[in-house]
Amino acid sequence: MAPFPFRDPGSMTTPRKLHIKSYGCQMNVYDAQRMVDTLAGEGFVETASADDADLVILNTCHIREKASEKVYSELGRLRVAKEEAARQGRDMKIAVAGCVAQAEGEEIVHRAPTVDIVVGPQSYHHLPQLLKRAKESGRALETEFPVEDKFGFLPQPKPDAIRARGISAFVTVQEGCDKFCTFCVVPYTRGAEVSRPVAKIIDDVTQLTENGVREITLIGQNVNAYHGDGPDGRAWPLGKLLQRLAQIPGVARLRYSTSHPRDVDDSLIAAHRDLPELMPFVHLPVQSGADRILAAMNRKHTADDYRRVIDRFRAARQDIAFSSDFIVGFPGETEEEFSATLALVTQIGYAAAYSFKYSPRPGTPAAEMRETVSAAEMDERLGRLQELIDSQQSAFNRAAIGTTVDVLFERAARNPGQIVGRTAYLQPAHVMASPDIIGKILPVRIDSLERYSLIGELAASSTPSLVSQTTIGA
Ligand code: 5AD
Ligand code: SF4
Repeated sequence: MAPFPFRDPGSMTTPRKLHIKSYGCQMNVYDAQRMVDTLAGEGFVETASADDADLVILNTCHIREKASEKVYSELGRLRVAKEEAARQGRDMKIAVAGCVAQAEGEEIVHRAPTVDIVVGPQSYHHLPQLLKRAKESGRALETEFPVEDKFGFLPQPKPDAIRARGISAFVTVQEGCDKFCTFCVVPYTRGAEVSRPVAKIIDDVTQLTENGVREITLIGQNVNAYHGDGPDGRAWPLGKLLQRLAQIPGVARLRYSTSHPRDVDDSLIAAHRDLPELMPFVHLPVQSGADRILAAMNRKHTADDYRRVIDRFRAARQDIAFSSDFIVGFPGETEEEFSATLALVTQIGYAAAYSFKYSPRPGTPAAEMRETVSAAEMDERLGRLQELIDSQQSAFNRAAIGTTVDVLFERAARNPGQIVGRTAYLQPAHVMASPDIIGKILPVRIDSLERYSLIGELAASSTPSLVSQTTIGA
């Protein structure tokens, strides 16, 4: 190769453009980054628009009905973009990834001839080979569960990719689920529960913090079932992992999602009691407040078991708040059973929650249940539940007005001069300030609330909180 500053024109290739559209959970957002990191090695760079992309990946979610329907309508739009690209002499490849690909791969191949590649979540490391196969033989499908280590292939993001993604990052610690809730496709699309070894997670978190990340969210479909191999040769529970990660320099905030009430053990409660870095905000889905429905859902806990778990968290950390997921209209749910859900919500008091109408997922036991709840009843129940949740969320947000809260600043906001960050409870908080505060945790005096955003000013004269003192400039 010619020495600098001359370049061999033959070695200069135009980067290929990659556009990924993700639906669904945090795991999918994380997987999208994994795909970007894998394809970066093939000379792909991300583009914000599907129209000028050489490869478009729809990273799909199968958890609820509308999610998979969206994929087919999006594919309709992409077919038009692909035809336009072909008219301009460009070859656009379209891939479907994620849980719809896993569950309905063959159907996608038949129903959407525009799709070149179908790839399940366990096979993203094979994307470069699949692209090659699609080029050579037209189409490529891979949805088998791998025989090799499910995590062995996780690509390490490059330092510049980490920095570009900002100060908050996800780290996968486990994948899959063995709970088999009767309504849920996850155990079928993501497979059996597997945990990553502690050492690998420490490496990832160290690399992230060395490149500016301050907040780490550990993710997994059933994250508190975590039981990865520890350096002492034993399986470590999530609480112990969190204790260890909190010691890594630069880790200002830790979170984890999504948990199952059955898997909340003493180590997790102790972590909330002992670690200022562990945010006092827990997503703990309950799905229903009625014991008969919880049993039919195979949740393996009663409403009272759930209440007791909440009490244990609250005893360990007074300022803890919760969010949850709810399903209304599970087969056979009566008005009385739905009222038990409302009663549970009223009793717990959530900072936020997501609620969904039950949708039968092919292949799950609940899809075979014959009782139904009418569409009108489902709508009506969802409306009532959401109204209750909204009122709790608004009250929770309003309670911040007039108080001073720690905010981890993330980026410039849309309004010029404003910087936005998040409170411990993931509430967006806006202040007028210099961009130097990005990456720091600072106390903010909250003055008002605009929809779901807190508006305030830096509490310059106040004493920084314990967390601020330990993390500013770390
Ligand atoms: N119908 C409706 N909601 C569902 N969820 C999972 N499966 C279904 C289904 N078949 C919801 C649950 C879960 C969240 C991620 O999605 O509330 O916690
Ligand atoms: Fe699905 Fe239940 Fe596993 Fe959550 S715990 S992923 S709802 S099977």
